[in-house]
Amino acid sequence: MTLRNSAVIGLAACMTLVSARPVDGKTPDAITLVSQSPLIWRIETNASVYQLGVANDGIVVPLFYGSQGVPGDIRDFPLKVNPLVGSTIREVPFRGGFVEQTPAVEVVYPDLTRDCDLTFQSHEIFTLDGAPCLRIDMLDKHYKLRVSSFIRVIADKDILEKWLILKNEADAPVLVENAQSGSVQLDADEYDLLHFSGRWSDEFMLHKTKLTPGVKTLQVRDFFSWTSPWFAVMPDGAADEHSGPVWFGQVAYSGNWRMDFDKSSSGALQLIGGVNFWDTALTLAPQQEFKTPKLIVGFSPDGLNGASQRLHDYARNDVLRKETRNTLRPVLYNSWFATEFDVKQEEQLKLAKRAKDIGVELFVIDDGWFKGRVNDKAGLGDWDVDKAKFPDGLNSFIEKITQMGMSFGIWIEPEMVNKDSDLYRAHPEWVLHYPYRVAHEQRNQLMLNLARQDVCDYLFGQFDKLLSENNIAFIKWDRNRQLSEPGWPDAPPQLQRQVRLRYIDNLNKLIDALQAKHPAVLFETCSGGGGRINLDMLSRMDQAWPSDNTNPTARIMMQYGYLNAFPAKTMASWVTDVDWHNAAPSLEYRFDVAMAGLLGIGSNIAKWDDRQVDIATKKIAQYKSIRDLVQDGTLYRLVSPFDTQRCVLQYVSADKSRAVVFMYNMWDTVQLSTNATKGSQFVKLKGLDPDAVYAVSDFWDRSASGRTLMNIGLPWLAWGDTASKIFILTGK
Ligand code: DGJ
Repeated sequence: MTLRNSAVIGLAACMTLVSARPVDGKTPDAITLVSQSPLIWRIETNASVYQLGVANDGIVVPLFYGSQGVPGDIRDFPLKVNPLVGSTIREVPFRGGFVEQTPAVEVVYPDLTRDCDLTFQSHEIFTLDGAPCLRIDMLDKHYKLRVSSFIRVIADKDILEKWLILKNEADAPVLVENAQSGSVQLDADEYDLLHFSGRWSDEFMLHKTKLTPGVKTLQVRDFFSWTSPWFAVMPDGAADEHSGPVWFGQVAYSGNWRMDFDKSSSGALQLIGGVNFWDTALTLAPQQEFKTPKLIVGFSPDGLNGASQRLHDYARNDVLRKETRNTLRPVLYNSWFATEFDVKQEEQLKLAKRAKDIGVELFVIDDGWFKGRVNDKAGLGDWDVDKAKFPDGLNSFIEKITQMGMSFGIWIEPEMVNKDSDLYRAHPEWVLHYPYRVAHEQRNQLMLNLARQDVCDYLFGQFDKLLSENNIAFIKWDRNRQLSEPGWPDAPPQLQRQVRLRYIDNLNKLIDALQAKHPAVLFETCSGGGGRINLDMLSRMDQAWPSDNTNPTARIMMQYGYLNAFPAKTMASWVTDVDWHNAAPSLEYRFDVAMAGLLGIGSNIAKWDDRQVDIATKKIAQYKSIRDLVQDGTLYRLVSPFDTQRCVLQYVSADKSRAVVFMYNMWDTVQLSTNATKGSQFVKLKGLDPDAVYAVSDFWDRSASGRTLMNIGLPWLAWGDTASKIFILTGK
């Protein structure tokens, strides 16, 4: 099993999981049962300890989560409670008894009792997909609801994956009103929360806020996740970018998610996350199960950058698809900004020829290639090539691209339909709607009801055909509208409020089925920009489009934000002519910004003059020489654009023999005029071998030891507004 554990309703998928056993019969070391009576488990990663046990009232309770070796990382006092009160701080908080925490489980039993009572039944320590896993089974004895809590331990990355399976073992249905993925309890302290906010064209903005007593909720209700479900929590003033304890995490889910930061008046902090059950409920029939998506939580003893490094390693080695995780991403050209819907074969070939000349490896046609698609008002849903635009068919065009020596990619938006399409005319009942309500449109789109199997079968047929009949190496999977009117009039009553869960479950299955049949095709997730980027989507999609805003100074901020949660290996970044904020940075600057991620070009390159072609050719060649560092190296964020008008990112190879430093000015303030420029004429590098000597490109052909570069640093050699430098360090 991989991260692909999105909400699955049904038995089959879960049975494999529940019956898993240690592969070698041994208990993995990361999880130990340290006491039989009372039962206490200790989960150790490189840097963290997670401890939990069973209290004398039978309730499973959290004991500690934090750094190894701190006084008090082993404790048992919450295990002895007054049974008249019962345990109120729970490993899986449920609605029942005294409810002191934000609940993870809220159900209604057939007799309308809404009070749950989950007590310990059994546990198992086993190996799941190569990693140790603890399963604890809890049961509401009277109503026979079984809740299994899973903790899978990625010890070398200090990461825990948490999820629940709810199983109805009674002979009458149970209504599930809420099932979160997991909860974590932190000791009383003053905490700051770092999280994203975003909107179209302004994604991945970082916000820091103090968590005061009460609940801070981050959530999505309309499927559109401009703000990815990531967080970092740190004791007030005790942690920064490179030092101090940070708890971090993400909800790995592509639908509506929520994360609550529940600070009690005692000062303790509960972190809880999972599916947002707002306007959602599901009925579990007898013997039916519901598996939540995963909540990823981790601990970094070395600040926010340490948290990101752990998440990057985890995403690259444990989350991305096995088929593609070890391959470097190609340099792509996408003609969207150059031609938009006006796709003409000859013009595309001209762009392709120029793309090849400058070193592009993958040529992508975006929106506008299919029947009836002359603007955004028509055509969505009908996935046949527009013969007016490609008279010899798509594959004959692709052949010309492959003959040039590039691979070919294409844009699709499977989940949407225009009213002006053959699909909508044939199946108006296939869109989400309520009978007596307006089905609102966004970008002239209605949303197909992927909760319906017939819709998914149609979509699989269309895209399987597209991929089978054409030599396509790359898919950009877009989604351009928010969810509204999530009605499914034909469905039986018990499915009405499950529609969002089923939609996302079926979406995942659709992508999985296409990838199972076409495993070598690279996929990119896009959603009107960065509206659907999360670790579950990245277990399917090999890379992500963070924003439609390609202005380089805006991108410096977004990329800095993005890299907190996700690795550069997934961060598509283009050089374009389009400028949302009227700045006019040089072409070199645009390249230098895009080269810190997955380099792409979206300019109208057919119009470039010789000078621009020359710059692009050199930059693309330079990118190819460092892309392994960017895509697979260790990131150090050295200067934050959220604090200054500057930014520095550094990527280091695993063996520390090579590194690349991206240095950017956004606005070049007069030296010594601001805190950021006082005494900061040098940037101290990180993560190098102190004893190695590095040749530093673009530094007057100098060499310096790792020790010097880390203690004294590189001089700030970017001068002027929107100026940049790329330094390549090669160990001698
Ligand atoms: C929105 C995406 O973010 C753009 O990159 C482009 O693909 C358009 N959709 C096409 O309609």
